[in-house]
Amino acid sequence: MDSSSMLQREETSGDMLGPLVRSVLTGGHQPLSRAKTLPPEAYTSEAFFQLEVERIFRKEWVVIGHTSQVAKTGDFFTIDLLGEMIVVVRAADRIRALSRVCLHRWAPLVNGAGNTARFSCPFHKWAYALDGRVLGAPLMEEAEFEPKSCRLPEFRTEIIDGFIYLNFSGDAAPLAPQLTELSGLFARWRPEHWVVATSIDYDCQVNWKIVVETFMECYHHIAAHPETFERAYPARYTYVEDGRAAWTVGHAPAREDLPNEKIAVGFPDLGEMSAQERREFRLYLVYPYHLLNVLPDRVHWFCLQPMGASRTRLQSNIIVRREAFEQPDYEKKMAAEREFLLVVNDEDIAVNEMQQRGAATGSAAPGRFSHLEKALWQLADYVRERIKD
Ligand code: FES
Ligand SMILES: [Fe+2]
Repeated sequence: MDSSSMLQREETSGDMLGPLVRSVLTGGHQPLSRAKTLPPEAYTSEAFFQLEVERIFRKEWVVIGHTSQVAKTGDFFTIDLLGEMIVVVRAADRIRALSRVCLHRWAPLVNGAGNTARFSCPFHKWAYALDGRVLGAPLMEEAEFEPKSCRLPEFRTEIIDGFIYLNFSGDAAPLAPQLTELSGLFARWRPEHWVVATSIDYDCQVNWKIVVETFMECYHHIAAHPETFERAYPARYTYVEDGRAAWTVGHAPAREDLPNEKIAVGFPDLGEMSAQERREFRLYLVYPYHLLNVLPDRVHWFCLQPMGASRTRLQSNIIVRREAFEQPDYEKKMAAEREFLLVVNDEDIAVNEMQQRGAATGSAAPGRFSHLEKALWQLADYVRERIKD
């Protein structure tokens, strides 16, 4: 393959988008045994990514954080997503997601995370309340406007099972009714007690779908995680349920002789679980990219920020019940769990980046699915459904 065709593969122009969309749509509605992956260009084309931004990320509900990250009034964290600079803050009345761009001349009011009584612009000191109202604008007496009638734009949010979802378009159907069944399942695990205990940030040179797909299939345990996962949760035992409209779930049962203490590492149990649930981990995907791995005593949560066709920021979090912090050996157990996560995340990121590089080559073509990759087949149909006109 010559370099010019590879270049073409990497840079699908706007003109190329029509044929690519047609090729994406053509592969739909096949049984899993006959289905193929999306075309590799759907993972590398900036034009296709922009279409996903427009038709998926800006229209649907996307998860941006967890309520435990803004536990007290004045707690805030910031996130840059799809061209917006956002501060998520617990105001006196509720959690709000506000544009954090100053109304005067657009300086970001705040960065990082912390606790504050108000936001003060570092440029000319306009002050904002936690609910976004302008509290004061110094030396503006001669301007004919009323600063106190102004407020920062607010994005629509919904909080479900402790997770904060945002809808950019403002007109998506409410999310909670779409997740009723899932919330019913989670209720037994008391998500109101969940706390994000630790986070690890990555900047991955991969498409967002690759992160989702590798999270949701355990086929790769056999090669990518031979020591960390395959011995404990063999790929061949894993399976994915039939999809729901808004979410799906996969199961990874433990090998029969794996001791219970290797599955639960000793944090307080999340809640009520059946004998089968105690012997497996479950991988949940709420479309498009909210990823949770639920174990008996902890949850691994991936919070994504799609940045471009070939770039995704990833925050890998460990969630435990609040009572875990009171355990005398909490620090030791959490350090070991974090160490384990660092190793498996590195294993996943290595294969993800390999796949991304391969997808950008001229010879790459849609590949066949294993039955263990059912969640990928479901995701492909989800994407098709949303990008079609
Ligand atoms: S840009 Fe914020 S006060 Fe001027
Ligand atoms: Fe993995």
